[in-house]
Amino acid sequence: MTHQPRRKQPADLRSARWFGPADLRSFGHRSRAMQMGYSPEEWQGKPIIAIVNTWSDINPCHTHLRQRAEDVKRGILMAGGLPIELPAISVSESYVKPTTMMYRNMLAMETEELLRSHPIDGAVLMGGCDKTTPGLLLGATSMNIPAVFVPAGPMLRGNWGGKTLGSGSDSWKYWDELRAGKITEQDWLGVEAGIARSHGTCMTMGTASTMTAIAEAVGMVLPGGSSIPAADANHIRLCSESGRRVVEMVWEDLTPQRIQTREAFENAIAVAMAMGCSTNAIIHLIAMARRAGQEIGLDDFERYSRKVPVIGNVRPSGDKYLMEDFFYAGGIRALMGNITQHLHLDCVTCTGKTVGENIEGARVWNDDVIRTVDNPIYGEGSLAVLKGNLAPDGCVIKPAAMDQKFLKHSGPAFVFDDYPSMKKAVEDENYPFTPDSVLVLRNAGPQGGPGMPEWGMLPMPKKLLKMGLRDMLRLSDARMSGTSYGACVLHVAPESYIGGPLALLRTGDIVSIDVDARSIRMEVSDEELARRRAAWTPPPARYERGYGWMFSKHIQQANEGCDFDFLRTDFGAPVSEPVIY
Ligand code: FES
Repeated sequence: MTHQPRRKQPADLRSARWFGPADLRSFGHRSRAMQMGYSPEEWQGKPIIAIVNTWSDINPCHTHLRQRAEDVKRGILMAGGLPIELPAISVSESYVKPTTMMYRNMLAMETEELLRSHPIDGAVLMGGCDKTTPGLLLGATSMNIPAVFVPAGPMLRGNWGGKTLGSGSDSWKYWDELRAGKITEQDWLGVEAGIARSHGTCMTMGTASTMTAIAEAVGMVLPGGSSIPAADANHIRLCSESGRRVVEMVWEDLTPQRIQTREAFENAIAVAMAMGCSTNAIIHLIAMARRAGQEIGLDDFERYSRKVPVIGNVRPSGDKYLMEDFFYAGGIRALMGNITQHLHLDCVTCTGKTVGENIEGARVWNDDVIRTVDNPIYGEGSLAVLKGNLAPDGCVIKPAAMDQKFLKHSGPAFVFDDYPSMKKAVEDENYPFTPDSVLVLRNAGPQGGPGMPEWGMLPMPKKLLKMGLRDMLRLSDARMSGTSYGACVLHVAPESYIGGPLALLRTGDIVSIDVDARSIRMEVSDEELARRRAAWTPPPARYERGYGWMFSKHIQQANEGCDFDFLRTDFGAPVSEPVIY
């Protein structure tokens, strides 16, 4: 069913409240617009479109967004709107410390308030580096004015000595090879210079490509837009087209909450599973759904994981291809065309058309890159949600990207309370690690990290690397990069810092996981756990002032999406439009 527009009239525009009235305040708005060089003909009766741009000089994934904003403006002008660029925090995954997850919600709040406080009728959201996609969408969804998301697009394949390099995944791989003495320092410098050779986001199926695919699957990106490489001229045309489209969306009053229904989120989960998504998708999608007034949880991911196989053969779940190959193979439309039985095809998207209409005629050009459900790269259960006495509110593992021998495993824990002490131990070749050891890091969750850093792919102990091993069972309340791999149990909830059961685990305790049974346990009696609980004291506060203090007070747990509690849709009365005196 195609979206039936209820066309707005110029007097209905939000911006008309600023520019229309014959009063002193509107006189001020008009005269200041003229001060900027605009003539009344440029705004009168026209939708004013914000370009919320996360470009910055220190975000290599968004280098091109400064220029691309001009392409978006071109589209907006062509369609009869007035573009206004509003810069927002860039949240560069490469540089922001202690972790970008500290700032996803800041970007979300900034986006929402930028749109609310200015005379804006619609928005083009420009991002792509990991947290920027959910950050922008969370804010725009809460503000709920028509919006379209423009993904920055993946960078080109990396190259070193004729070998293709993938973001993140090959950093970890060659780092371990260097530590194991298999490559030279000179080789390592070659990898460093060749792994990121164009602007754009990580080109493995990391969090960036996962989240932009999700943004498209949920209906907030123009069809096919999420897989276009950043350096491809198609990307420039996507920007212009997105500008043109959002102006129409304003007249149609096609808002994010009308697009992002429960069924649309189920489509997003199905696509995430078919892509072999980053584990971060779980946290962001839960938060996004809640902002749209929809309730999805870990059980929904578990349900889809059990029925949707991984058909996107992109590393790290896939074995050799990268996002550039995925685009040439037909991109996200082709992938969605191969899983139609798992999609709600009648969901309305930002095009005003349905998912089914958007993917009609999509073709797969390389069936090794985009597989069929009968020939998947991983049958089912690419992500698994485990529960048990170590994680009553759940934790996550990615069976599609780990040594399968750890799917069922028991071993003694080596428990570390902070990253530096763990790092020291894994570098110590005399530390008594064995192949069945379970490496555990705690105090790395939403409050404890703080900000739930991507530490979850805990480094392999040097001793085991030198024995030729490349995987072991690892456990933490941290996240891990979508470009990571290994038998890493993540997102343990509740986190240890607030007294979750992980806080009670001791070195030498036996940890058991059984992925088929979806269980995780520490083999410690309830009586002993009660004794340990009575003796447990909370660690000191991470922050006593500022944003960090607010973050610590209000961040929710991983299974709740790590949103701030006060940004939930059911937290108090909805925010009203600003009063213009
Ligand atoms: Fe920006 Fe990976 S560092 S997407």
